[in-house]
Amino acid sequence: MKDMARKPQDRLAEVLAGDMDAVNGLIRARMASEHAPRIPEVTAHLVEAGGKRLRPMLTLAAARLCGYGGPHHVHLAATVEFIHTATLLHDDVVDESRQRRGRPTANLLWDNKSSVLVGDYLFARAFQLMVEPGNLRVLDILSNAAAVIAEGEVLQMTAARDLATDEGVYLKVVRGKTAALFSAATEVGGVIAGAPEAQVRALHAYGDALGIAFQIADDLLDYGGDSGATGKNVGDDFRERKLTLPVIKAVAAADADERAFWQRTIEKGHQQEGDLDHALGLLNRHGAMAATRDEALRWAETAKAATGALPEGELRDLLRGLADYVVARIA
Ligand code: IPE
Ligand code: IPE
Ligand code: MG
Ligand code: MG
Repeated sequence: MKDMARKPQDRLAEVLAGDMDAVNGLIRARMASEHAPRIPEVTAHLVEAGGKRLRPMLTLAAARLCGYGGPHHVHLAATVEFIHTATLLHDDVVDESRQRRGRPTANLLWDNKSSVLVGDYLFARAFQLMVEPGNLRVLDILSNAAAVIAEGEVLQMTAARDLATDEGVYLKVVRGKTAALFSAATEVGGVIAGAPEAQVRALHAYGDALGIAFQIADDLLDYGGDSGATGKNVGDDFRERKLTLPVIKAVAAADADERAFWQRTIEKGHQQEGDLDHALGLLNRHGAMAATRDEALRWAETAKAATGALPEGELRDLLRGLADYVVARIA
């Protein structure tokens, strides 16, 4: 199952290999800095670790799918990856994370200051790149996405540690911090290609649902994953007292004792040895893990359904396959 599910992503990488080489070349050129050696040190650390390059691939695929033959989808794809990388640098400071892409985080290797400032630099580089195609609409979409991501992260911060956080707030956070960049990535591909409005809307809807499915899967893996496979630590969300979907569902089903447990560990932050295992037991007992998984699978189906309005062909099939791929890690 896992091998089959890997295929669409690998095939997409194959189909887009030429474009992706150009994106990687542009990323390398623009992450440099003549004046501050700390910048290439930090960016090289992150960029050389790879990353799946999912979002730039989405931009390239959307543009090609809509018949684009020009050069500017490469700038847009690099923009999207820069915004993503900048948010990761900032996110690992906020989350006090120690592992990213299978390596120690930049905040651990250097310090928080370096991560924040180099993240700012990458954001600024992203804005320079997004101007280059000379298309006001893509500028609007990408600059809006950058603002919405920040809103999502701030909303998540204020909702953390609050057991009253419900699924509505969670969805808002996820749409902001993650899905906004996925939907912008796909939408600008269609816009730069001059696609009909119905296709642009479909690309947006696809990216939105794909991003939500992706983040729900990521949140599930934070409890159920294997850090060798995810390149991140298991249990980070619990330690950070973040209210993600599995916990929100378990809290909603909690009896008095369980509620006291969540209050102590999440609200008060008095965590001790064995608490993460106990939390996992509660998540399984209430079917919260299974229900979360089902929700991710539903969003993946929504993403696939949205592609109905897009031109038929291999690229559309691959976008559908990618929706299965992002949830295959949890299926
Ligand atoms: C990580 O995204 C951040 C989330 C939205 C969960 P990815 O898992 O796409 O990160 P890389 O780029 O492949 O490392
Ligand atoms: C990812 O959020 C960062 C953004 C989407 C801005 P998380 O904090 O949930 O993801 P990981 O687990 O650190 O990758
Ligand atoms: Mg994080
Ligand atoms: Mg975070």
